[in-house]
Amino acid sequence: MMTKKQPVGDPGDPYYEGVPEYMTEVYDWAYVNPARARLLDNNWVVRVLLFFNDQRLMRAYLNEISEGMRVWQVAHVYGELVQRAARKAGSQGAFLVTDITPVQVEHAQRKLAGMDWARVIRADAGEYSPPEGETFDVICSFFLLHEVPEDKKAAVVNNMLSHLAKGKKLVFVDYYNPKAWQPIRYILKVVNYYLEPFAEAMWTKEIRDYANEPERYVWRQETFFAGVYQCVVVTHKE
Ligand SMILES: C[S@@+](CC[C@H](N)C(=O)[O-])C[C@H]1O[C@@H](n2cnc3c(N)ncnc32)[C@H](O)[C@@H]1O
Repeated sequence: MMTKKQPVGDPGDPYYEGVPEYMTEVYDWAYVNPARARLLDNNWVVRVLLFFNDQRLMRAYLNEISEGMRVWQVAHVYGELVQRAARKAGSQGAFLVTDITPVQVEHAQRKLAGMDWARVIRADAGEYSPPEGETFDVICSFFLLHEVPEDKKAAVVNNMLSHLAKGKKLVFVDYYNPKAWQPIRYILKVVNYYLEPFAEAMWTKEIRDYANEPERYVWRQETFFAGVYQCVVVTHKE
């Protein structure tokens, strides 16, 4: 069910300018409204939302980063993840976060202040194109796909693939298809119905299904917590 919520911002409110409709209609309370986003942006919210699987899911991403790497995280995440990823890349590397909402960009900028190898750019993960010649060792989407409509999922996956250089990696960490005996499946059914209208597609489709030319890549999948979550690492063939 699509839960229609009116954005609380006044017309012309800079926190709402240029923010796509799916964000203001569905996720205003989480990522657009600055007061709410401020309240929710902490490690405990991530821990509880992920049923205490936060550390191992973050490790699935962070373990792919080593010192000196160039990393692009395509959307901000509550809590300390961006600092941890930026610190792992280190001052010899580079760390970029993009995000579509002004308040999340502000949060990322605050968290990464003082790390001059880290940058934050307001951009749509489905459209952002780095300057000519800029390449990344790791490009990661951490729990973004389940929050965006189907056409945007495809745009994000294909945009990330278009910036995947030979020998480098894409990392997707997101929901998957919980086993029938996993009680969390039924909790998530209710959560998805009321709050996350784009999430359940992750249960029936593989991430590779969103790619225009999936056969060109190797898709290595690991699942967690009886199928509730997945990490998919994508590399070029050969
Ligand atoms: C990556 S998900 C992470 C969800 C997770 N529950 C957390 O702990 O933050 C949420 C972020 O995605 C951002 N976002 C949504 N659509 C986007 C898009 N098309 N491009 C870039 N960022 C986007 C939102 O603004 C928000 O900051």
